[in-house]
Amino acid sequence: MAPYLFLCLFLFFPHFYASSSGSHSCSHHEAASLIQFKNSFSITQTDHAALYCDEIAGHKSYPKTNSWKEGTDCCSWDGVTCDHLNAHVIALDLSCSWLYGNFPSNTTLFLLPHLQKFNLAYNDFNHSKIPSEFGRFTSLFYLNLSNTLFAGEVPSQVSHLSKLVSLDLSFWANVLTIDKHALEGLVHNLTEVRHLFLDGMDMSSVNAHVFMNLSSSLRSLSLAGCDLQGKFPKNIFDLPNLNLLNLGGNQNLNLDPLKFNRSSNLEHLDLSSMSSSTEFIDSVDNLQALKYLDLSGNSFVQGLPVSITNLSSLEQLIISGANIFGELPDSMGNLVSLKFLVLSQSNLSGPVPRSLRNLLQLTHLDLSQNQLSGEIPSSLGNLLQLTYLDLWQNQLRGQIPRSLGNLLQLTHLELGWNKLSGQIPLSILNLTQLEYLAIYNNSLEGSIPDEVTAFPNLIYLDLYDNFLNGTLPSWLYTAPSLKDIDLSQNQFSGHIKEFQSKSLEYLYLNNNKLQGPFPSSIFQLLNLTELVLSSNNLSGVIEFRMFSNLQI
Ligand SMILES: *[C@@H]1O[C@H](CO)[C@@H](O)[C@H](O)[C@H]1NC(C)=O
Ligand SMILES: *[C@@H]1O[C@H](CO)[C@@H](O)[C@H](O)[C@H]1NC(C)=O
Ligand SMILES: *[C@@H]1O[C@H](CO)[C@@H](O)[C@H](O)[C@H]1NC(C)=O
Ligand SMILES: *[C@@H]1O[C@H](CO)[C@@H](O)[C@H](O)[C@H]1NC(C)=O
Ligand SMILES: *[C@@H]1O[C@H](CO)[C@@H](O)[C@H](O)[C@H]1NC(C)=O
Ligand SMILES: *[C@@H]1O[C@H](CO)[C@@H](O)[C@H](O)[C@H]1NC(C)=O
Ligand SMILES: *[C@@H]1O[C@H](CO)[C@@H](O)[C@H](O)[C@H]1NC(C)=O
Ligand SMILES: *[C@@H]1O[C@H](CO)[C@@H](O)[C@H](O)[C@H]1NC(C)=O
Ligand SMILES: *[C@@H]1O[C@H](CO)[C@@H](O)[C@H](O)[C@H]1NC(C)=O
Ligand SMILES: *[C@@H]1O[C@H](CO)[C@@H](O)[C@H](O)[C@H]1NC(C)=O
Ligand SMILES: *[C@@H]1O[C@H](CO)[C@@H](O)[C@H](O)[C@H]1NC(C)=O
Ligand SMILES: *[C@@H]1O[C@H](CO)[C@@H](O)[C@H](O)[C@H]1NC(C)=O
Repeated sequence: MAPYLFLCLFLFFPHFYASSSGSHSCSHHEAASLIQFKNSFSITQTDHAALYCDEIAGHKSYPKTNSWKEGTDCCSWDGVTCDHLNAHVIALDLSCSWLYGNFPSNTTLFLLPHLQKFNLAYNDFNHSKIPSEFGRFTSLFYLNLSNTLFAGEVPSQVSHLSKLVSLDLSFWANVLTIDKHALEGLVHNLTEVRHLFLDGMDMSSVNAHVFMNLSSSLRSLSLAGCDLQGKFPKNIFDLPNLNLLNLGGNQNLNLDPLKFNRSSNLEHLDLSSMSSSTEFIDSVDNLQALKYLDLSGNSFVQGLPVSITNLSSLEQLIISGANIFGELPDSMGNLVSLKFLVLSQSNLSGPVPRSLRNLLQLTHLDLSQNQLSGEIPSSLGNLLQLTYLDLWQNQLRGQIPRSLGNLLQLTHLELGWNKLSGQIPLSILNLTQLEYLAIYNNSLEGSIPDEVTAFPNLIYLDLYDNFLNGTLPSWLYTAPSLKDIDLSQNQFSGHIKEFQSKSLEYLYLNNNKLQGPFPSSIFQLLNLTELVLSSNNLSGVIEFRMFSNLQI
């Protein structure tokens, strides 16, 4: 989304990204306004900014205004862009800049008449109101106040910004509200708007009908968690340029099944957590351009709508925490563009469809926490691009197919809490990229495949609660990245050798038939935090459990 937006702004406003270098430098008056603006805040990284900017959005926050020094050319300051002809400040990007404090309604910044782009996203304005003076920035085509901890009513003056191409007031914390008057003004006046993000804004006092007359230029409309009421206007689906639509979490919206237009260009559709009882989508197969579909948290009383499997451009399908009654249709295999498939925690039953073998682009497959039964189809070994495979907590039986050893890109393999039996296939030694291997709580037997150099990247190994026997494999002692080993509740026998992995933190070998002395060199592994050896036939120290760095 972001790169796409950048590109489109660049195409339509090439002058805008002009460099700030040039013979002119910024006027005293504009520099003074900026300094005055900066001085109205404390520059502190609050918990809010750290959480939302750095952790959730994954941007790197830092105080951009630290480079703002009186007596220097403001066009060279971090976050400031000037027009190269006359050095007017035309863009301010202060997103993620540690601004903290109530937003001043009398700031002289509102007198910068040439400002076209203003980004204040991810600062902390301490629950102050959006000043109505924002309505003075009549040259703005881009305004971003996303995740700023502005609170209260959105002033109706925002609708005076009739040149806006992009408006982002989204914030998941539900602290902004908008009334009928202001929302109608926005829809009516923003005739150029292409990107409208209002997620989390409380719209419970307005009928969703107001969105009926949105600009035909609209490309993105994001209204997740807005508590929309009434009927969503059907003509939104006819907007010829609409590319992204997010209505997630609006549980009070009246949905007589949403009908999609065959000429739609929608690529990204999020309808998560909208319906707990009714079939609410119809003719979804009209969305032939769709690449991303999220239907998590809904109920599908008649099973997964089969028409979804006609979406031949779909790259990501996410349905988690839903209630889907019935089996996965075999036509899942028609979704040949899929890269990312999550169908977890959704009450699915029946077999894993063999047709998944056709999804040759798939890199991520998560079918965890359902009631899927039958065997793991060996045809999953066709999916050579897979890096992530999770079938945790189902009712799968039979052997682990040898063909999984074909999945050489796999980093994450989770088959725990099923009813798998037989031996772990030797071919698993081929999975040299594996970082995470978990097959706990099954009925596996025999010994663990061994080869000294196996699993050079393995970090996490979890095979507890099976019937595995034989000696511990030699790679267990040498795999350089292993941090977490749980082989408890099996029937392993023989002696324990010296562990060489300095990264080892957790080692559980309890409830086995291990014998002999325990190698004291284990105490040199400084990162070891927890060691459980109880219920074996070890001599010397038999049972102990320790936390923090072991020192004896
Ligand atoms: C934040 O708001 C609280 C309560 O409204 C106020 O007491 C405090 O001074 C404000 N902090 C700043 C830095 O403006
Ligand atoms: C804005 O108002 C505050 C008091 O409300 C005052 O201290 C400050 O000087 C004013 N700033 C400007 C630029 O007028
Ligand atoms: C608003 O700014 C944030 C932070 O830079 C960015 O992640 C987000 O995509 C922006 N929104 C729009 C609509 O450009
Ligand atoms: C539309 O914008 C103009 C100024 O650009 C303003 O005078 C008018 O009040 C706005 N209309 C609404 C409904 O907000
Ligand atoms: C949409 O525009 C039409 C024609 O201008 C007008 O009659 C109608 O009332 C508007 N609807 C809404 C909900 O604003
Ligand atoms: C689909 O949208 C187009 C405009 O993009 C419109 O002309 C057409 O009537 C719509 N079709 C239906 C069935 O609503
Ligand atoms: C899927 O598309 C085919 C033709 O492309 C059509 O015949 C069929 O009815 C569609 N199936 C569903 C369930 O929409
Ligand atoms: C799964 O379906 C059963 C009824 O068949 C229901 O009781 C249960 O709550 C559902 N589980 C989830 C996670 O929705
Ligand atoms: C595993 O790799 C060996 C050689 O490295 C190869 O002979 C064997 O066929 C592979 N097995 C699978 C299941 O890919
Ligand atoms: C192991 O799996 C069974 C079902 O196969 C389940 O009932 C049990 O709670 C699981 N135990 C653990 C410790 O995961
Ligand atoms: C491991 O168990 C299998 C059967 O599950 C048995 O055939 C084999 O002899 C056992 N090996 C050892 C070393 O106990
Ligand atoms: C031990 O833990 C520390 C802190 O978590 C980490 O920085 C260090 O890399 C670890 N040592 C090894 C050998 O993994």
